[in-house]
Order: sequence, then C-alpha cells, then structure tokens
Amino acid sequence: MSVDESGHQLFAPVITLANLPDPRTLGPYSVYIAWAVTPDLARDAKLGVVANGRTELGVVGLNQFMLMITAERSADVARHSGPAILNGTSPSWALQPHDALPITRSSPHTAMSMHSDATSGVHWVMPPMHPQVPQMAPGLEGLMPNAAPWMPTAGDKAIAAVRPREVLTLKDGDSISLVAGLMRRTIAGHTVTMYGFNGQSPGPLIRVDQRSHIIVNFTNALDQPTSIHWHGVRLDNRYDGTPMTPQAAIAPGGTFRYVVTFPDAGVYWYHPHVREDSQQDLGLYGNLFVRSPDAGFFAPADREEVLMLDDFLVDDRGAPVPYGADQSTHALMGRFGNLFLVNGSPDYSLNVARGEVVRFFLTNASSTRVFNVSIPGARLKLVGGDVGLIANETWVPSVVIAPAERYIVDVRFDSSGRVPLLNHVQGVDRYRGLFFDESDTLGIVTVGPSTAPAATPAATAFEQLRQNTSVARDIDRYRSRLAAPPDYTLRLTLDTAQTLPFELWQVLRNEVWPGSPVEWTGTMPMMDWLATSRQLRWVLRDSATGRDNIDVKWRFHAGDLVRIRLVNDARILHPMQHPIHIHGQRFLVVAVDGDPMQNLLWKDTALVPAGSTVDLLVEMTNPGTWMLHCHIAEHMESGMRMMFEVVR
Ligand code: C2O
Ligand code: CU
Repeated sequence: MSVDESGHQLFAPVITLANLPDPRTLGPYSVYIAWAVTPDLARDAKLGVVANGRTELGVVGLNQFMLMITAERSADVARHSGPAILNGTSPSWALQPHDALPITRSSPHTAMSMHSDATSGVHWVMPPMHPQVPQMAPGLEGLMPNAAPWMPTAGDKAIAAVRPREVLTLKDGDSISLVAGLMRRTIAGHTVTMYGFNGQSPGPLIRVDQRSHIIVNFTNALDQPTSIHWHGVRLDNRYDGTPMTPQAAIAPGGTFRYVVTFPDAGVYWYHPHVREDSQQDLGLYGNLFVRSPDAGFFAPADREEVLMLDDFLVDDRGAPVPYGADQSTHALMGRFGNLFLVNGSPDYSLNVARGEVVRFFLTNASSTRVFNVSIPGARLKLVGGDVGLIANETWVPSVVIAPAERYIVDVRFDSSGRVPLLNHVQGVDRYRGLFFDESDTLGIVTVGPSTAPAATPAATAFEQLRQNTSVARDIDRYRSRLAAPPDYTLRLTLDTAQTLPFELWQVLRNEVWPGSPVEWTGTMPMMDWLATSRQLRWVLRDSATGRDNIDVKWRFHAGDLVRIRLVNDARILHPMQHPIHIHGQRFLVVAVDGDPMQNLLWKDTALVPAGSTVDLLVEMTNPGTWMLHCHIAEHMESGMRMMFEVVR
C-alpha cells in the first residue's frame, strides 16, 4: 500500500489520449498540460505536458482530485489559464455525505436491546464515536449486537498485576513453560481483568538461534479452549497450534508440549489461534527473535527495540467494551481500538543519545488496524520484514504495517528533544463525505543532549543502503516464475445473505465506496460493533471450483512453487482490505495490480487493499495441513479461512 508519511494515498496516473486536435486550432496555444486539482479548487499541481499517446504523470498524493487537461501558451506556465478540454476524477471523488442520500429512518430495534448477561453482570456499552467524527448514521441508535456480552472475570480469585515483559534467551534444546492466564491491568484509570502469558503482556520475548529448537510446555489456565500459534515460523505441522488441524485446541486446565524449530532468522510472534478477537485482543501475544549465526546478517546498530503495536477499545468511562460470548462482534471492519498500546503500554517511551542508530522490530498485534508509522524529522531505513531481510535496503517516509506483519527499520536520531512515534493516516468521515487527517502518538523518543561518538560503526553503516545478496540469490532461482500466470485465484468477498440488522444493511446499502483502499481508522464504531460473525460471512472463493472458505481444499507437493492471485472485490456492501496470512510456508509478493514488485522480501502475511489484486509466489516446502486466512481477527471468525495440504 503506497502512501506518504501523512497517509495520503499515492496515485501514479497514466493517461492515454487520442484524437487531440492541434492546440493552435483552439487559440493562441501550443501545448496541452495535465493538472491535479483538489475538490475545493484551492490547490492544483502541474503534472506535465501531455499529447496523443501514453504519458506517465508522476505521483499525486491527494485524498481526492480532479485530473484536468488544459491548452496552454507554453509548457512553462505555472498556472492554468487556457481552456479545459478534458477532466476526470479520482475514485474517492465519489464520496458523498450521508444527508445527500436517501436514508430511511426506522423505529429503534427493541428485539436486540435485551442482551446483557444477568449472571456475569456484563452489559453492552456503546463504543464511543471517533473524536473527529461525532455524527452517527441515523437509524442505529439503540441497537446492540445480537450476542451475549462477555468479559473475563476472576470470580473471587485474587489475580496478580501484569508483570513487565521478560527476555528469555534460549539455547538449542532448552525448555520453557508458558501459561496463558488472567492478570490485572490498569487501563485509563480502570482496573481490568485481562489475559497474559506468564502474567505478562506482551508475553516473554523469546530469543533463540536460527536452526535451533526449543520445547514450550504450555498450560491453559483460561476458562476456555486456546492454543499457541507460532506466527511465521516454518515449524513441524504438529506444533502449529491451529485447532482445525489434527491437534485440537487445548481445553481449560490442559497442557501441550510444543517443539518449535526456527529455520529462518528474523522477528516472529506467538498468539492463540482460538477466538483471536477476544483472546489476542485481551493481551495474549509475544515476540520471537531468531538470531542469524552470520554476524553480518544485520548492519551494526546502537540499540535494538522490539515493539508490539496494538490498540484497545474502551468506552467513554475508560472501561473495556465487552466481547461477544459465543461469536465475535465487529465482524464488518474488525475491532478498532481507541487507545494505542506499544508493548502493552499506552505511554511507551525510549531514551536515546543524539546520533544513536536504533533498529526497531515492529509487529502489528492489533485485530484490524493498519498502522502508517513515521518519526517526524528522522530518516527511516527499511531493512527487513516478516521472514528476514529485504533484497535492497531503502529509505522510506513511513512504514505501512498490517495486522500480523513485521517490519524492521533503522532510525538515526540526529537532533535532541522529544520526537513522537506517529501513526499518521487519512480517515474517512462518511457522514459528512470528507477525508480527515488523523495523527496518533504511539510513544515518545527522548533524544538526549549527549552525542553518541561520531563515526561509530552504526553511524557509518546507517548511511549505506545494503543489498542483501542472499535474499537476491534466493529470488533469482525463481526469476523465470516471477511473470508467470497464476495457478490459483482467490476472490476475497463478502456474503451478506445472512441476517444483518435491517438498519445496518440500509445504511451500508447507501454507502458510496470512497475509494480508500484501506480503512485506516474506525469512524463508524456503531455500524462496525453491531454486526456479529454469524450475521455475515467474509469469503475466500476459489475461482476454479467456486468453493468457499473451509470447502476449498488445495493439495500441493513439497517443492511446488505456486502462484496465488488474491483479488479483493470492491463491489460489495462494504469493501475492506485483508491481511492474508499463510501458515507453514513463505512467499514473495511478486505483483500488485499487475505491476511487478521490484524489491522483494520473504513474507508470511500480505496486505490486499480493497479493489486490488495481489500475486503471491508461495514456496510449498513444509509438509502438513495448513491454514490460509485473513488476519483481521473478526474476519476469520466470520469464516475467512481455508486449509491446504502439502504432501511429501
Ligand atoms: Cu498469526 Cu493463523 O495466524
Ligand atoms: Cu479480512
């Protein structure tokens, strides 16, 4: 997903013209020029001279724009003054305010306002509106999700307060215990019962060597089934933690012995694979750091920071918004939080000396939010991602990171002072038909006045962009396949034949897709909250067989190289991006919307923006029965998952 550091989508318009008359026939003109103009006509950018044939017009970073072609006296004019002869608009131009649409008001729905759980005392509380989008689509007031509300409770058991994340540095063959259980946490002044591994959230940071193995003796101390999935780790199928493969979810009080092997260096993470919408959101996640034996795998850095990015949803009083007891809420867009957490904390801070180079290992552990991370005034160097290093290091204005993805960035802090770690995006206010700027502070880096010694190995290395030849060599083997046609096509779509509340369906039906391929923030908290995982079905549809989700049964042989095309359908009730994750294997994103990707990286999760087509080249090397699914927790609960088999 290509955006600038403030989250504006970057368009690269290409225009093909035919039958343009000679401009001199229109008056004292000699050329045609293309411009990008904002809806309020307040800004226009000159894109360049156009003529009959095909012209690439560079990059436009505006939320909405009109593309206009005028006849002008000379190619050098700074502003347009000649006649406009053609225009067109960006898709996002079609966004309309709700009050321009025929919304039918209906009486408040009473049948659904009954659900509160008498025994547990948990009640539904309406999620707060987005602070920048105070209006709600009419007709939704008084509705509640058609599910019983649920929050974990300790009963009369005393539970311990959350402990800071510990670092476990393990050697080949070492054993550890992990316990998934309850813990107490104070969030926005409220004491909340949440989940953690060994009383920590994030759980222990597990540091291991590449090609080593560890034993994890796991105990489920929750009152519901769970499992641990080792996200991105190409381990033995028996230990993948997916309840849909032969090993079942682990019952309350049960134990399981995981043997985890680490074939690839990089940053991975672990989380449950049962009700991620509640279990993971309540704090069950941790990072794995797999060190390469190659001392030069990474360039030198002064400091390494492993960061879990997350968000958490609280109501107007600061209390968590309950989860659905036996099905998930927020099935449409996923559960957007309104409290930003870095390593479990709403006030992450870091102190560095001036000139220090910090290597950030970022993991997105949120249920649905795509972050656009930047650090104002600091240069970011993209070094790697999901499964290791990127072929060519590159400077980036920001890092777009979807749920479950990892990115590795090097940052040098050159001037002293306080610098925020930002999530800067463009939200859509559908009610008023506007885009707006949202900037969230995820944490603060305090750069001290003292200066790290100049010309340290890290400072020198920071200036160089490395080429990671081992990655390039891997990819070279597949060169001939990079442009091949797809072997399989999956259409990502939405089936709403089931029973959405009428009012919700009515509001959605009136939506004009705003052409924002990523839903960056939760601006429709009511609408999102109301739909449950049983009221709609997100679908992975195999184009060849027409089969959906769990009925798709692909079979491969170990050693197959498979090109899978993911087509994200935008002609549905509510288009969404989907971060698609494949278990047990690694893949390359080889093309987006037909454009070959130039700079490759091994991945296990890829973001497919709404309306986009993304081609993956999957290396099927690891035998077993594996899952492919959307990593938006609520989409997976609403059906968006399938299995495939790799036979030896
Ligand atoms: Cu991170 Cu199937 O999961
Ligand atoms: Cu999805």
